[in-house]
Amino acid sequence: MNLYSIETGNFKLDGGAMFGVVPKVLWEKTNPADSSNRIEMSARCLLIEDGKRIILVDAGLGDKQSEKFFSHYSRFGDATIENSLMLNGFSTDDVTDVLFTHLHFDHCGGATKREGDKIVPLFKNARFWCSKKHWDWANISPNPREKASFLKENLLPLEESGQLNLYDGVDDGFCKELGFDLLLVDGHTEKMALPMLEYKGRSILFTSDLVPTAGHIPVPYLMGYDVRPLVTMEEKSKILKTCLENGTLLFLQHDPYNELVSLMDTDKGVRIENSSSLNDFFFMMKPLKGNKNVEVLFGSGKRVSSSFLHCVYLLNKEDSRFVVSVPKKTFSLAVDRNKLKRILREIVRKHSKEVLSFGGGWFMFIYSSDKVVSFLDIEKDFKLLVKNIA
Ligand SMILES: [Fe+2]
Repeated sequence: MNLYSIETGNFKLDGGAMFGVVPKVLWEKTNPADSSNRIEMSARCLLIEDGKRIILVDAGLGDKQSEKFFSHYSRFGDATIENSLMLNGFSTDDVTDVLFTHLHFDHCGGATKREGDKIVPLFKNARFWCSKKHWDWANISPNPREKASFLKENLLPLEESGQLNLYDGVDDGFCKELGFDLLLVDGHTEKMALPMLEYKGRSILFTSDLVPTAGHIPVPYLMGYDVRPLVTMEEKSKILKTCLENGTLLFLQHDPYNELVSLMDTDKGVRIENSSSLNDFFFMMKPLKGNKNVEVLFGSGKRVSSSFLHCVYLLNKEDSRFVVSVPKKTFSLAVDRNKLKRILREIVRKHSKEVLSFGGGWFMFIYSSDKVVSFLDIEKDFKLLVKNIA
């Protein structure tokens, strides 16, 4: 399984609405407000590539509505769902399934687009998945509190597309096939679905609007939008406790600055421990230090070579480490050796995801050419080298 964070564009919402009864002096410490009292929000989605399917969790706001509509949400940033998919090597046509956590406009609006005077699915090959109870809740006489968030132009085209699939519960066929669990919660809205995934030895919870930003981790810090705030508090308290016990990471959908966070126990309750991006957390390679470790690597490692590089590697290590080497006997000047080492380190970091696509490991990258070659040429050669690692 591979996971990709898909940014779909940021927006702003009223800070008071986002924190309900919590006083501004408290919430503005983590979520500063602008002069109109609005806080910054992302609309981050998660793409799950499991070998058979390419599943997108949620789809952001999209861009179907009028300028007047979007003027209430002050969108900012350059990210779009199409661009973010493309940057990760996918197109909208590659997506086989779109799973909606719920149908508020900032979670499902991007699943459809305007084409002439029609609204059609952006993902023409995808099946759209939603809990039946939530679909009915949003479509059959929605309550006045949520009515403004369940937009007809988002929901009707999904229904008319013939691509919509409703599941009854987590024991339903689709959910069983998914390869990950769904937690259904009822505080924010009826049957909001939270994917819980196992990935590279860690569990990750896609928190949707249960914990929209890192500022919402304290149990009483609830969104004013929740339809059943007391239920949210119970659900959040129980889920955060389980996440803490299991070392589960939270993938935050609406926090522009905290994407993946770990939790810790404090006197005040569960709080954020560390924050990083999905890529940095899972694909960060640490330095390989110590002669003993290098001896182990040379003693039992495999070897591959390309035009300018040589790599000695050991796969299936618990941690991922690397070291670069530029032979002194080829480059007698320290300035040349240091320059090449810097280039090599930068390339390894830039492409760590490709390097680690075979699992964690230890790697030594040795510069084997006798000339100082350009960054771009070394990078090109490095990509060929990595393809031979297996
Ligand atoms: Fe929501």
